[in-house]
Amino acid sequence: MKGFNPEYEYIHVKNLLDGDPYCELVVRQKAERREMTDSEVDGKNTVNWVYGKYTRQDLLKMDPVCLRALFRERVHHTIEVDIYPIFLGQKKARSQMGREPEMILDVWRERSFPEDEPDWEWGKTYIALARKLREGEKVDIPEPGPSGFDAGEMETVKKLIWERRSVREWIPGRKIPDEMIDRVLEAGRAAPTGCNLDIVRFIVIRDPEEAKMVWSDIPTPMDRCVLIVLCYDKRVYRTVGHDRLVPHNQMLDCAAAADHMCLMAHALGLGAVWLTRTEKTARAFKEKYGLPEYFEPALHIAVGWPAVGTIKSARMPLKEMIISKEG
Ligand SMILES: Cc1cc2nc3c(=O)[nH]c(=O)nc-3n(C[C@H](O)[C@H](O)[C@H](O)COP(=O)(O)O)c2cc1C
Repeated sequence: MKGFNPEYEYIHVKNLLDGDPYCELVVRQKAERREMTDSEVDGKNTVNWVYGKYTRQDLLKMDPVCLRALFRERVHHTIEVDIYPIFLGQKKARSQMGREPEMILDVWRERSFPEDEPDWEWGKTYIALARKLREGEKVDIPEPGPSGFDAGEMETVKKLIWERRSVREWIPGRKIPDEMIDRVLEAGRAAPTGCNLDIVRFIVIRDPEEAKMVWSDIPTPMDRCVLIVLCYDKRVYRTVGHDRLVPHNQMLDCAAAADHMCLMAHALGLGAVWLTRTEKTARAFKEKYGLPEYFEPALHIAVGWPAVGTIKSARMPLKEMIISKEG
């Protein structure tokens, strides 16, 4: 195996010689993310990803969704995570810093895609800073860090976090305005995603009959709520190799978005609940809606106008949750 590909290793998970009842061996990829050296980061002609390189030709053919995600990921890993220690004088800028995202931006332009959306603007800000640092110019930290909330703001945050609750009974026939659903979706959009890859996608279902058909194994009254299905786009992780390195982040991204969305629903006076999915419902859903293979439903949330008061759930004491504080 190693002769075939030295990037792989052969590991004894269980070993008779160590007293295990049997031997178990796994073959797995060795590569962990590591910093590229300047000579490896040749952003003029190639863009590195975890398991290889993309040439300009590759980028010219790449699906725009993947190219755009690769741009955000490269800005994140080659500038954003590097630049703050440089600002603080703890590290020196690499001579090729920012070249890779610059090349992706260049290809994006060559392909005549629009570049005025917020993720491109964010990336361009970092590219401009990286270019200055590369050329030895002094640059200032552009934005202030968090300064903390005042007491009044803190009360609101506390209220939001501790009073949010799952609501499973909704008023039949009372429509949720589109603008409210948009605000809930916007809250999901604001959630963090691993390496800023932005893989979360939404499907909003208002038709109760459709919802009943697809989610028949969930005993929630679907004739009085809006369902928002949170999916992730698997193409993106395949492009950057994270499907092999950190596949679980795809579900975590959807979970982070769902939590933001439930908080926003609560602040709007709506009642929301997470609904998990089984493999069966995910398959049924993909089939019913003719979703391409690369959209994977992760979970869904149901939102409606609360029909009854609910007793807020309680948590176990914090001390029971802490495994260790001594580390
Ligand atoms: C990952 C996850 C999956 C959940 N799935 C369901 C579900 O399928 N059906 C349901 O009624 N509630 C579901 N919930 C909601 C939980 O039951 C609820 O958050 C928990 O009981 C705590 O109550 P609270 O949300 O009112 O604080 C889910 C919550 C999470 C975080």
